Order: sequence, then C-alpha cells, then structure tokens
Amino acid sequence: AGPCDIYSSGGTPCVAAHSTTRALYSSYTGALYQVQRASDSAKTSISPLSAGGVANAATQDTFCANTTCLITIIYDQSGRGNHLTQAPPGGFNGPEANGYDNLASAIGAPVTLNGQKAYGVFVSPGTGYRNDVTNGIATGDGTEGMYAVLDGSHYNDACCFDYGNAETNNKDTGDAHMEAIYYGTCGVWGTGSGSGPWVMADLENGLFSGSGAGLNSADPSISYRFVTATIKGKPSQWAMRGGNAASGSLSTYYSGARPSGYSPMHEEGAIILGIGGDNSNGAQGTFYEGVMTSGYPSDATENSVQANIVAAKYATTSLTSGPALTVGSSIKLQATTPGYTTRYLTHTGSTVNTQVVSSSSSTTLKQQASWKVRAGLGNSACFSLESVDTAGSYIRHYEFALQVGASDGSKQFKEDATFCPQAGLNGQGSSIRAWGYPTRYFRHYSNVGYAASNGGVKTFDATSSFNDDASWLISTGFA
Ligand code: AHR
Ligand code: AHR
Ligand code: AHR
Repeated sequence: AGPCDIYSSGGTPCVAAHSTTRALYSSYTGALYQVQRASDSAKTSISPLSAGGVANAATQDTFCANTTCLITIIYDQSGRGNHLTQAPPGGFNGPEANGYDNLASAIGAPVTLNGQKAYGVFVSPGTGYRNDVTNGIATGDGTEGMYAVLDGSHYNDACCFDYGNAETNNKDTGDAHMEAIYYGTCGVWGTGSGSGPWVMADLENGLFSGSGAGLNSADPSISYRFVTATIKGKPSQWAMRGGNAASGSLSTYYSGARPSGYSPMHEEGAIILGIGGDNSNGAQGTFYEGVMTSGYPSDATENSVQANIVAAKYATTSLTSGPALTVGSSIKLQATTPGYTTRYLTHTGSTVNTQVVSSSSSTTLKQQASWKVRAGLGNSACFSLESVDTAGSYIRHYEFALQVGASDGSKQFKEDATFCPQAGLNGQGSSIRAWGYPTRYFRHYSNVGYAASNGGVKTFDATSSFNDDASWLISTGFA
C-alpha cells in the first residue's frame, strides 16, 4: 500500500498527493511531475517505474542531458487535479518576470529510495509553487490532515518554507486563514527547544509550536537528514507530530487547543509549497513528498504512514558528477566558450572575472587564477574554492555575482561558498552548480563571473551561449 491507501483505510482520504520521488498510491501509474528543458523549451512528464513505484529519474536524466531542466508541475496523484505550478505574486513579488516565483531545478535534490535514484524539490529563496483553485481541500473551520517528507539539513530563518493550506488570493487575509507545515529556524513568532530547525504550524501571522506563540519546549530541534512532519486540525483542536523519515516512529510535538484568535479557523483551501501564504519567498528547504487529507487522521493512521515512509528507504546520493576534484589540490578553470579559451577564472580584489593567463604570466596573475579545493563549507558533499593568494577567502555568490570574500563563519557565507561540480553542460569539463541555487552555475558574462541561471530576468542569465559560458576545463593550478 502507499500512504494514500493507508489514509483511505483510516477513513481520511488524500485530497491532494504530491511527490516527485514516488507514487503515493499502490496503483498509481500516472505522471508524478513535469520538467521543462532550456535547450528547446520542450516539456515531459516523469512517471513511476511501475505502479506504486519510484519515479523514473532516468527519463529525466536523458531528457535533460546537456541542458538544464526546471520542475514546472508537481501533479496531484489523488485524481482531484490539485496540481502545483509556479506561484504567482501576492503580498510579495517573486523574482521572475511579472512577480512570479522561481521554479525549482530538476536536479537540486537527488536521493535514492530503496536504492533507486529520484529527485526531490529543492526550494531556494525565491522559489515557490501554488494552486489557488483546488478541489476537496478543507475550507473554513474544516477538518484536515497533512504530512510532508523534507530534508532536515536544508532550511533557513526566513518566512516561510511551508506545505499546506493557504489563501486563494496570495495575500495575508488574516489570522487563521492558513494551516500548513512549516520547517526552519524562523523564530519571529514561535520556537521550540534549542536553536532549531523546528517543525511548526503556519496558521497565518504566526508559526506555532503549541497552544500559543513563543517557546513551546515540547517541540524539539531536528537533526535528521530526512524528516517526516505532520499537522492536523479540526474545530478547537490541532496536533503536530514528527520524526525521522528514515527510521523509527513519530512523536507528538503538540496536541491540544488552538491558539487564541485561531478558533474558529478560516481556511481558504489553496495549496502552497516553499512559500508563505502571502507569497513571502525568502525561505529554503527541500520537499520530497506530501499529502493533504479530508478528515482528521488518527495517530494510528499516521503511524502506518510513517512506517510506509521508512520502508521507502530514503537515502542520500552523490551531488556531483563529471571529473573528480581532489580536496587540497590547486586548480585552474579554463573557459570553453569559442573565442575565450585563453581565459581563466580569476579575481581582481573581490571581483571574480576571467583574464587571459598563461605560463608566462606574472606570479601575481597566476596566483589570482589558481584556487585551492576545499570540502564544501556549507555541505561537505560539494566543494568550496579558496583563493591561492588570499588564504581564508573563498569564491561565493552575492546577489548572484561571484565574489572573493573572507569567510565570516556564517551559515549564509558557507552556503553561498558551496558549489557542486557536474559533467560540463557543453560536453567539456565541468559545470559548477551553486549548492543553494541549483538552477545557477559559474558563468562568465562580459568576462565577469556570475552564478547564472539558463534564462531569467538578469542580463547575465541570458540563454545565448549559456552551456559554453558555464562549462570549464579544470586542471592543475598555475600556482
Ligand atoms: O504566518 C507566517 C506568515 O505570515 C505567513 O506565511 C504569511 O502569509 C505572513 O507573512
Ligand atoms: O547570491 C544570492 C544571494 O545574495 C546570496 O545567497 C545572499 O548572500 C545575497 O543576498
Ligand atoms: O564572458 C564573455 C561573453 O560575454 C560570453 O561568452 C557571452 O555570453 C557574453 O556576451
């Protein structure tokens, strides 16, 4: 059985079922999600390998070879048509044209389920999905449940990495107009014990961890790589449970009265992923699967769903591909764009650029064109590049320009300085993906270095020449 078969047996059927990694009903063979590639704008749907099975990631890998792909639709498996697509502007604008949010890279969150490769939805700040016209989702003081499987190591303190019930007009329409799972370290409203991250409930104008705002110490800080989070609500009552999605059972973090001012609820029935109800889009996180139900699921039903998630055996897999990098070595990165191949990735002060460098260049320039490979400051499965001439300074992106800066030790710096190489997009060398923004790669544009996406609102995101500008031949450093 799948999670939604279990909810059905419990009398609380799924009314929305979203996953890019697997079918959530044992009989489901339909599309899980749709991707669009940049090379020709073509789209394709990814389905399970077999009924009830894991996503056929190989279809995506073939379709997206030598280009970049975005997740354009996360299909609703419940049959109610509650698909998630690019979130529109609301109280806040997203970064794309006309205030839309970004779509997620199709390759930002690789995992395995029972040994088979699949991809989650890696939400960078600015990324969001939504459906404002739904079918069967709770409204008013209605009763519902939901769960999500998330990456416990991917979060921040911004508002709001959510999955669940929100406003249909994309704006903050007042307290009690939302009921969604939140994950992260935003401590503006409620907190749990320790420094987070926490699972909380976004009920609008508040992330709640218990019966009211502020500290609710029964809500623990999470350290699992894969997290199961559940929220359920009915008149006068709500509950929140969570656990390790890769082993063991769920614990109840809260079950009791609704916060003052949040009863009755005024749910509107839109569905959001990765954003707040008003399209607040500064948060980050990774979503693998989740559902919303009709009715208040019993703890026993949720326990069976957790057992099903554990049996799916979520596990990590490599974030990199292509030529291997050796930690501790010095490297140079040669441009592969025709007409620019005498240029290497260099820096002039804090500016990252490309310059013509050769063995007869000055020692200063050779050092400016050489980089020490370090384990990724923000994720040791990827890499950071330390300047050879300025020890303790690393390449990081800032407002999507590449810069060389001294580490201030912050989570933000470490993540901005972490990059995941993959086989070169143009078939040569390596393309260097930003860990925190997997739609973005080291790219030279007008001989300046950027973390650029293959299409987008910035000049340096131009699709023309993207694969060449974003592919680099890596070899032993000049210095
Ligand atoms: O409740 C927290 C956030 O507050 C909501 O997600 C958003 O709509 C509002 O800004
Ligand atoms: O480069 C994009 C973002 O710009 C970085 O993550 C952040 O540090 C800066 O605001
Ligand atoms: O960086 C040099 C060139 O500038 C790039 O190849 C091109 O995309 C841009 O015009």
